[in-house]
Amino acid sequence: MRVLPKANDTCWCGSGKKFKRCHKNSNDPIRQGHIAPLRPVPDSIDKPTWADGSSVDRWDEPNVKSADVIERMRRTGRDAANILGSLSQIIQPGVTTEAIDEYSHNKAIELGSYPSPLMYPGGPNPFPKSLCTSVNEVICHGIPDDRPLEDGDIVNCDITIFREGVHGDTNATFYVGQVDDLSRRLVEVTRECTARGIAAAMPGNPINAIGEAIQSYAEAHDFGVVRDFVGHGIGEQFHTDLQICHYFHPRLTTEIEVGMVFTVEPMITLGDWRARMWKDGWTAVTTDHSRTAQFEHTILITEDGPEILTTPEDKTGHPWWELAGANA
Ligand code: MF3
Ligand code: CO
Ligand code: CO
Repeated sequence: MRVLPKANDTCWCGSGKKFKRCHKNSNDPIRQGHIAPLRPVPDSIDKPTWADGSSVDRWDEPNVKSADVIERMRRTGRDAANILGSLSQIIQPGVTTEAIDEYSHNKAIELGSYPSPLMYPGGPNPFPKSLCTSVNEVICHGIPDDRPLEDGDIVNCDITIFREGVHGDTNATFYVGQVDDLSRRLVEVTRECTARGIAAAMPGNPINAIGEAIQSYAEAHDFGVVRDFVGHGIGEQFHTDLQICHYFHPRLTTEIEVGMVFTVEPMITLGDWRARMWKDGWTAVTTDHSRTAQFEHTILITEDGPEILTTPEDKTGHPWWELAGANA
């Protein structure tokens, strides 16, 4: 595990300057900004139970999906990815995470879908926005607010939409302007961790093969793997009981079966992987304020191996896996 430098030590970014003259201040902890009022969703959009403030309807949904559910998940997953991919056109210094929320919210509705995070129960209050935006040391579930993105930030945008009765869940970490080399390495390693985790999702493997692949690659680069948040089964429900740990968990030996659909979404840290929660009950940050990155896909297990359901149609000039650096 990497430990942040002391004030007079050399900065981690490779500039050769003292930490206190370099990233210590330019990399101030992220603070909660102002959160704009709830955005309406038209009556014509089919909504999950929580849209009106009700609780999440939970039932024993099978891990292995029917052909009909799979067909619907392909379409919803593809459109979630289309929205995520389009964000690379708007993410730049000066843009607020609120503006990313407005854009994503409107795109979801244009596509006839409900933005699943909106009003999702949890914490002291339901999640008030249509996507999660997690900047720098924010691990996940950051709430879009009026903070303008700064040159050198990294921001994870996590899009989930609900349409045809099913959810599609995907995220990527984007560069804001010029990003230092170590943060870029973090993002690239996280992308590769996600790819390796997905590749390990072969039918017949135990489910902990996914975390094993992710953890060994992250730790070989001296990065940490977040334990407090995991991948999940998904389908007609946003989160089912099936949990996908991103580290090796010896007891999670459930066999991966053809027809299963779940997410792989590792959160990788530059330093300490332990998480702390803001008072808002949603925003999770690293305890040492070290940066953290994440990628997420919803995948279907086929006889030939994993199929990514959250691949965008528009891959102009770059494969999906390069989305993170596409705007760099
Ligand atoms: N999309 C997140 C996931 O990958 C969950 C966000 S829930 C929210 O599971 F309420 F914070 F939006
Ligand atoms: Co997810
Ligand atoms: Co997600």
